[in-house]
Amino acid sequence: MAQFDVRPVTSPDYRRLAQKRLPRFLFEYVDGAANEETTRVANQADLRRLELRQQVMRDVSRIDTSTELLGRQCAIPLATAPVGLAGMMARRAEVQGIRATERAGIPFTLSTMGIASLEEIAAASPNPCWFQLYMLKDRGLVQSLLQRAQSHGVSTLVFTVDLAVTGMRHRDVRNGMVGKGFRPWRARMAALLTRPLWVWNVGLRGKPHDFGNLRGIIDDATDLDAYKKFISAQFDRSVTWADIAWLRTVWDGKIVIKGVLTGNDAVAAADAGADGVVVSNHGGRQLDGVASTISKLPEVVAAVGDRIEVLMDGGVRNGLDVVRAVALGARGVLIGRPWIWAVAARGEQGLVDLLTVFQREIEVAMALMGVNRINELTPDMIQLPG
Ligand code: FNR
Repeated sequence: MAQFDVRPVTSPDYRRLAQKRLPRFLFEYVDGAANEETTRVANQADLRRLELRQQVMRDVSRIDTSTELLGRQCAIPLATAPVGLAGMMARRAEVQGIRATERAGIPFTLSTMGIASLEEIAAASPNPCWFQLYMLKDRGLVQSLLQRAQSHGVSTLVFTVDLAVTGMRHRDVRNGMVGKGFRPWRARMAALLTRPLWVWNVGLRGKPHDFGNLRGIIDDATDLDAYKKFISAQFDRSVTWADIAWLRTVWDGKIVIKGVLTGNDAVAAADAGADGVVVSNHGGRQLDGVASTISKLPEVVAAVGDRIEVLMDGGVRNGLDVVRAVALGARGVLIGRPWIWAVAARGEQGLVDLLTVFQREIEVAMALMGVNRINELTPDMIQLPG
């Protein structure tokens, strides 16, 4: 049998296992990105091109991989990224996710479009999640979501700004993830027939499959068309930095702006009162053709690194990628697809195991790069080949 049946270790191992477990339209929804997916590919490829500097014969007997992200002590400079519909990939995936991150000592971010609600997540973990929000036209709804988050002890709001419209994700059309009528239905049914375990574990035992945070507003998360309709009706295309200033007045906790790719936008975010930014292109799922996040990180760090926390996501697949981003000035990184693959493949324990591997990889890299602390990783330790 395939080697991955022995024991998955790395993100690609979990990805391959997730592919075996998930109906095709769901696997490809997670895996895919916008248009030709050049940005998705670039995120990973550009990280890999960066060489690390080995330094030997230093005293590396006191390595500490921990750091503080947005006021929270973290075992490694990593958090999970918000992923909508996560609970379709594993039974109550968001609950498994926060339990695993709790065990690994890092923050978990709940998406507005998660299957599990803020309440379900609060009940699952003593440490509050970070909550990701989109600006909705109904500001009353925004405020009620914020109040709910606050009442559950959430102190960090991740405000995503790169989804004024949804990107052109062609795989979702091809595989029947979106679309009404016989053909997409047939594609989904054919995919479900090949994955009876998913149907039992997630499809039947993972209910309810609604958007927990938006219960009563959109009810059926299995109807992606209703989801897209909600996005075009409610996602506010007219949002500007002035709305972040408004958000600042109604939210007491930290605000992190996710989806910034230029130094100018990062300065605008800081001026509007944000405590941090995430350099992100939504994992290549929005504007295909934009630069990889790691290539834009130095510009953003130079613009606001001394004022607010700069985080990054996109293409991070292992501990060495974390080291690369941190050395180039990121305070920490988020992972999207890898945490989904891990819970889809092996549940909570799978994610704990994957995060343990990340932690060890960071530790080994630090030892061989001659540093003991996360803040000793600096840009001169990273270079392009040649
Ligand atoms: C996302 N992402 C996302 N971001 C967000 O702010 N709110 C959301 O609901 C979602 N939903 C979502 C679903 C799926 C299936 C994926 C893969 C991604 C983007 C996510 O937070 C993050 O920016 C990227 O996933 C980072 O790239 P990697 O780690 O997946 O390469």
